[in-house]
Amino acid sequence: MSEINMLFEEYSDKVNREIQPLLKNVFDGLDDITCEASLYSLLAGGKRIRPCLMLCVAEMIGLDKSMVMDFAVALEMIHTYSLIHDDLPAMDNDDLRRGKPTCHKVYGDGIALLAGDNLLNRAAERLFELSVKNPNSIRAASYMMHNSGIYGMIGGQSIDLDSSNKKISLERLYELQDKKTGALLKTSIVLPYIVAVDNSVIKPDEDLENTLNDLAYHLGLAFQIKDDILDVESDAKTLGKSVGKDERDDKSTFVTLLGLEEAKVKLEKEVKDCHEAVYKLSNKGYKVHDLNTIVYFLLMREN
Ligand code: IPE
Ligand code: IPE
Ligand code: MG
Ligand code: MG
Ligand code: MG
Repeated sequence: MSEINMLFEEYSDKVNREIQPLLKNVFDGLDDITCEASLYSLLAGGKRIRPCLMLCVAEMIGLDKSMVMDFAVALEMIHTYSLIHDDLPAMDNDDLRRGKPTCHKVYGDGIALLAGDNLLNRAAERLFELSVKNPNSIRAASYMMHNSGIYGMIGGQSIDLDSSNKKISLERLYELQDKKTGALLKTSIVLPYIVAVDNSVIKPDEDLENTLNDLAYHLGLAFQIKDDILDVESDAKTLGKSVGKDERDDKSTFVTLLGLEEAKVKLEKEVKDCHEAVYKLSNKGYKVHDLNTIVYFLLMREN
C-alpha cells in the first residue's frame, strides 16, 4: 500500500470512529423495513470522503469539528440516498455497491426507492432540528439542500440520464460532472467556511472563500473523471461496484466522449488546478497536510 493510501486510511479511520455511531442512530432505532434498508446502504462502507473533507477543512480554518458533525452526517445520508437511487433499474441498474449487493437487490425496488427518500427526508429533518437549536446554521443547511437539488446533484443526474445515447458538447459534459458529483463535494469543502463565518469564528474572507470554491470545482471534476476512468480500467473487486457500465449504457462521460487518453489529459489538468488551490491555502498560512493527503488520495485512488 502506498504511503498516501496509508495516510488517508489513518485519517478516514479517525473520522469513521466518530461518524459511524452517529450514522447508526440516525433513525433512533426505529424498527421498520425502510429504515433497515437505509441503514444497510448507509453502513455498507464507502470511503466517507465527504465527511473527511468537511472535518478536515473545518479543522484547517479553526472551526471546532463538533460544529460540522451533524452536517457531515446529513451529507453522507444524502450521498447514500443518491447512490441507492442511482443504482435502481430505472437509472443505472447496478447490482453491486460498496462491495455488497445494491439496496434494491436485497430489499426490492419499492423499498429501495423509499430507503433513498427516507435518507433524504431524515437528513433535511436533521438540518431543520439543527437550525432550530442554532439559527446560525440556517444558511449552511440551506446551502446543503440547494447543492443536493436541481441546481446540484439532482440536476447533474438529470443531465446524465438525458445524455445517454446522445452526443453532447464538452461544455455540457463539464456541467453534468460539476453538478452530479461536484455539488456534494463542494458542500463538504465550502460549508465549514459558511458555518465558521455565521458563528463568528472567522471574519468573512473573500479570498479564502474563492480558493475553497476553486479547489472544490477542480476536485469535483477530477473525482468524477477518475470515476469514469476507473469504470473502464478497474475491476469490480477493487472498486466494490460493477465496471464497464458507462459504455454498456452509452453514457456521456469523459471516457466515452473523448477516449481514455484524452480523459487522462483532462484529469491531469484538474489535478494541477487542485494542487494550485491547496498551495494557495498553504501560502495563506493554513496547515494543509491533511487536506493534501485527502486530495492526493482522491486523485490517485484505486477504488
Ligand atoms: C460514488 O461516490 C459516486 C460518485 C459521485 C462518483 P464515492 O466514490 O464517494 O462512493 P462511496 O461513498 O465511497 O461508496
Ligand atoms: C453517480 O455517478 C453520481 C451520483 C450522483 C450518485 P455514477 O453513476 O458514475 O456513479 P457510480 O459509478 O454508479 O458510483
Ligand atoms: Mg449514474
Ligand atoms: Mg451509477
Ligand atoms: Mg461512475
